[in-house]
Amino acid sequence: MQNKQVILVKKPEGLIDESHFSVVFTDVPSPKEGEVLIKNHYVSIDPYLRLLSEEPTTFSRGVKVGSRMESWSVGEVIESKSHSFEPGQYVLCYLGWQQYGVCEGRDLRKIDPSLAPLPAFLGVLGMPGITAYFGIFRYGKPQAGQTVLISAASGTVGMTAGQLAKMHSCKVIGIAETDEKCQYLVEELHFDHAINVSRIKLEEGIKAYAPEGLDLYYDNVGGETLDTALLFLRKNSRVVICGMISQYNLKTPYALKNFERLHSARATLKGFIVADLMSDWPDAISKLEKWVKEKKLKHKENIFHGLESAPKALNSIFTKAPIGKTVVEV
Ligand SMILES: NC(=O)c1ccc[n+]([C@@H]2O[C@H](COP(=O)([O-])OP(=O)(O)OC[C@H]3O[C@@H](n4cnc5c(N)ncnc54)[C@H](OP(=O)(O)O)[C@@H]3O)[C@@H](O)[C@H]2O)c1
Repeated sequence: MQNKQVILVKKPEGLIDESHFSVVFTDVPSPKEGEVLIKNHYVSIDPYLRLLSEEPTTFSRGVKVGSRMESWSVGEVIESKSHSFEPGQYVLCYLGWQQYGVCEGRDLRKIDPSLAPLPAFLGVLGMPGITAYFGIFRYGKPQAGQTVLISAASGTVGMTAGQLAKMHSCKVIGIAETDEKCQYLVEELHFDHAINVSRIKLEEGIKAYAPEGLDLYYDNVGGETLDTALLFLRKNSRVVICGMISQYNLKTPYALKNFERLHSARATLKGFIVADLMSDWPDAISKLEKWVKEKKLKHKENIFHGLESAPKALNSIFTKAPIGKTVVEV
């Protein structure tokens, strides 16, 4: 049996696309004692993969040229040499862009496919959903009646974070790039408002929808968006730096001008990486699963078909990002 993999063949400068990857075939590995052979069904496409493709980061060794791309995936156990797993079980794993892979049993999370479609375990019930959970509750600490602004609100983290803040009776305003996305945020996810920044300036949108100012800015974007949001911070507000997707393809990052606002607003700014909180993930997962089951937390996935479409899918989240979580059906 052959194992199809997608490997990085060139370090990207600027936007990442299909020219940076190649498809190769290897032998399917055999599991050793304590290990499990998994057939991937879906691989995850996440913004941080762009960073891995360039240099080692504070949360990963990075992906070297000639190596298989890393990523979360959802797969099925094909052969098990671990007492804890049986063939046919579905698992969440970190096997990267390939059809088959071997993992130690202790690195796998069993998942229940009756709870949600498999791709959702890479989104709302996976790393991005857990990120939103901690970003909102541990660091954002929203209180009922407070005003929360969320950038990249139609992405996986943003749409989950916004719904969690709504559950806490906050006024939630999302930032997105199209009318369709804004409509989805307000009509489907019950955000209070959505600012289409391709139509109006962010500054005007915040003035219109949050004349009282912001108690929490949940930043997925960085750059000029963050700089503008800083201008509207209220006294004792919080800024959660979850991600900086607008900066990942740039050589020279945007230099913030409005840092002074943190001082005058007595605001706190907190950056975090969800991988540092792994020992607390089970608590977040059980809450997210409960809310998805109760239909209190909605989710949406976009599926690319065929492992070879993974590079195109990665490019898409930086160019024409669809609403929700992007995954590739292997
Ligand atoms: N701190 C952590 O541990 C952690 C964990 C997971 C994710 N993150 C970060 O969270 C952010 C969102 O991730 P996600 O999983 O929600 O991604 P996603 O589901 O793939 O969605 C990507 C989002 O980014 C927006 N976007 C793309 N390029 C942009 C640009 N140049 N300027 C502004 N917005 C842009 C897209 O919307 P539009 O096209 O409508 O703008 C889309 O909403 C990223 O910055 C990611 O790195 C951090």
